[in-house]
This record gives sequence, C-alpha cells and structure tokens, in this order.
Amino acid sequence: MAIINENYFKLKAGYLFPEIGRRVKEFSEKNPDKKVIKMGIGDVTQPLAPAIVEAFHQGVEELASASTFRGYGPEQGYAFLREAIAENDYQSRGVNISPDDIFISDGSKCDTGNIQEIFGSDNVIAVGDPVYPVYVDTTVMSGKTGSCNSKGYFEGIVYMPCTEANNFVPELPTEKADLIFLCYPNNPTGTVATKEELKKCVDYALKNKSIILYDAAYQAFITDDSIPRSIYEIEGAEKCAIEFRSFSKTAGFTGTRCAFTVIPEGVMAYDKAGNAHPVKPLWNRRQSTKFNGVSYPVQKAAAAVYSPEGKKQVSETIAYYLENARIMRESLEEAGYTVFGGVNAPYVWVKTKGGMTSWDFFDKILNEANVVGTPGSGFGPSGEGYFRFSAFADRDNVHEAMKRVKNLK
Ligand code: MLT
Repeated sequence: MAIINENYFKLKAGYLFPEIGRRVKEFSEKNPDKKVIKMGIGDVTQPLAPAIVEAFHQGVEELASASTFRGYGPEQGYAFLREAIAENDYQSRGVNISPDDIFISDGSKCDTGNIQEIFGSDNVIAVGDPVYPVYVDTTVMSGKTGSCNSKGYFEGIVYMPCTEANNFVPELPTEKADLIFLCYPNNPTGTVATKEELKKCVDYALKNKSIILYDAAYQAFITDDSIPRSIYEIEGAEKCAIEFRSFSKTAGFTGTRCAFTVIPEGVMAYDKAGNAHPVKPLWNRRQSTKFNGVSYPVQKAAAAVYSPEGKKQVSETIAYYLENARIMRESLEEAGYTVFGGVNAPYVWVKTKGGMTSWDFFDKILNEANVVGTPGSGFGPSGEGYFRFSAFADRDNVHEAMKRVKNLK
C-alpha cells in the first residue's frame, strides 16, 4: 500500500499564483472583449539583454561542435560563473565569499524549499508575516508543522508580523527559532532592511545557534547605497547565514532559470549531541545526488550579466522597472491609497481603502478595472487588507492600469 505524505493535506488547496491565474482565466473567458493588465505574479516582461543573448547563442554553438561539446557539468556550477559571482557580487563589495561557497541552481524558489532537507525535522522555522508562500508551504510539506488554524497560521511555525508599526521589519521571536527566513528587499511588501536591523537578526542567530535563510532575490533593485545587498555585509553573518540569489529578476531569467545559493564554510548546524557540523558539505552532498546542474548555455548567459556590456544593459532594465514602480507609487498615492515599498524593490504594497479585504479588492479591480494584482492575505494573515502590485510590466500597461485604478468608484 502506498502511503501518502499527509502533510500535503495540511496545505491550502492551491498555491497562490495558480489560484490567481485560475480566477483571471475565468474572468477572461466570460469577458473576451476586456483587455486584462497583469501586475500579479512578479514575472519579468523585458527581453534578455543583448550581451546575455549573445553569450547564450555562443553556448549553444559550442554544444553544436564536437570539439567544444560538453555533457554533464559540475553539479555545483561551472567555475567561470561561480568566480564571476564571487568577484562581482561579493568581493567587489568587500565581502569575503569564495567561488567554492557558491552553488549554481535553477531557481531560488527550488533552493529555499530544498534547503530544508538538510535540516532535521525538529527545527522550529520562523517566517515574516506576510511572506513569500514557498517558505511556509515547503516547511509544511517537510512535516515540521501541525495544521493550519482558523486565522491561517500553521502550528509549529513562528510568525514574525511585519506591519506598518514595525516598518515591515520583524521583531525577533521571543521563543526559540532555529531557521529564520528573511527576504530583503522584501517580497511582498517591497520594503528594505537597514544594516542595524539586519545586525539584530544576525546577533539573534549567533546567540541562539540559529541559521538565517536570507532570500536576496531582489537585491539588484537596491538604489540606496546605505542598504545592504547581501546579509554577508553584516559582521558575523558568514557564521550563521545562507544566502539565496537569482538571475530571474536581476536579468530576466524567470523562464531561462538560473540562480545560486551561498553557504560559507563557517555556517554550522548541530547533531543531537550538540556537536557542530558545517552545513556546506551537506548541501553539496544533496545537490550532487539530486541535481545535475544548470545547462551550459544558461550558465554562459548568466556569466554575461557580469560583462561590462551586460552590467550596463541589465542596470538599464532594472531602472525601467524601478521607474514603473515610481509611476505606480505616485499614481496610487494620488488616488488616495497609502503605499509602501517600490523604491528599492519592484513591488508596491498598497493598503486597501475602507478596510476592504484583499480578495474583495482583487475581485473589484479585476472586474471593474480589468487589472490583476496579488491579494496581500495570500502572503499571510498580516497581509490582510493589503494588495501587491508588481512593477514587472510594460510601461504602456503601467500607465493604462494606473489610469483605470484611479477611475475606480
Ligand atoms: C512573486 O510574484 O512573488 C514571484 O514571482 C514569485 C517567484 O519568484 O517565485
């Protein structure tokens, strides 16, 4: 008899974004004449930069010739990409990360979920609330929680509310938390954390022998130099933090797939007897057993992000999305909404008017303005009454969507 992983039954029926897609599809089928503008899932709209496309082509050409053909690559990723990352993303900012600490993957969504495998099921997980749903759902799947209560909280997870009152940076838990998910610039609120705020998290982790799982997928959108791009800019983080980064939002790789996880030598986890073990070899073991690496042309393409032309072209695209975010923020404020985020991040977090629930607002703007966003409550109970707009959109659509939202009754 095949026994199911019953933890899956604890999950909400569908993952957030497919549920939004389902509602939008239903609306479009009933209203084929309406032009729906999608600002829901944070999926890029601008094409890959020319320098990236060129490198991608070169990678394919190499595979087309017997003398340059490659089969399996290293499970950890090609040295040329790991070296480019270490040098450009870390060493150039005074952060001591070596290529050996970097593991190339096909996405931060996968990595933030898969990382849980190397930690025991007794760990208590802490997450922000609202939060990127992957951290919670994969924690539930891995059997570290009880069931979900009527308020939408899973028993056994420590939730750290991120609200207007605390500037969307969580208070650290008073109870024990072993693995702490943090995401800055934040998805979904579009807010950032300062060095001082992150230092408190690092100090907590060092004191409690916890590990911070730091999702920095949106770091490329940081324009304010005083805001850290990496958790490793905080002293001590190299002993207690794992960082996840992605080329998805940085360079338009949502469909191409390339990301990486950083685990410095000094990050330790403990056995039942309290002996410390480095985490990096465990992740290496996991990856080399279950993953055969990202394709060679994709890694070539990702390395081109760090070429002089690549850097310039990618930063132009980032600036384009940030300009979208500015237009959205200002338009929504003019329309009388209270707005957060969208300055160092591609997400704008809006408070609904008159206490309307997030899903009611979703239905209202879908039906009346034919604009799609993401209901804040889909990211956790503290997101109720909020709504997320993604700035990954074409400029004309941004103007049109904002005009329609301003005209809402
Ligand atoms: C989002 O909209 O939150 C993101 O696109 C999700 C993701 O990156 O997986």
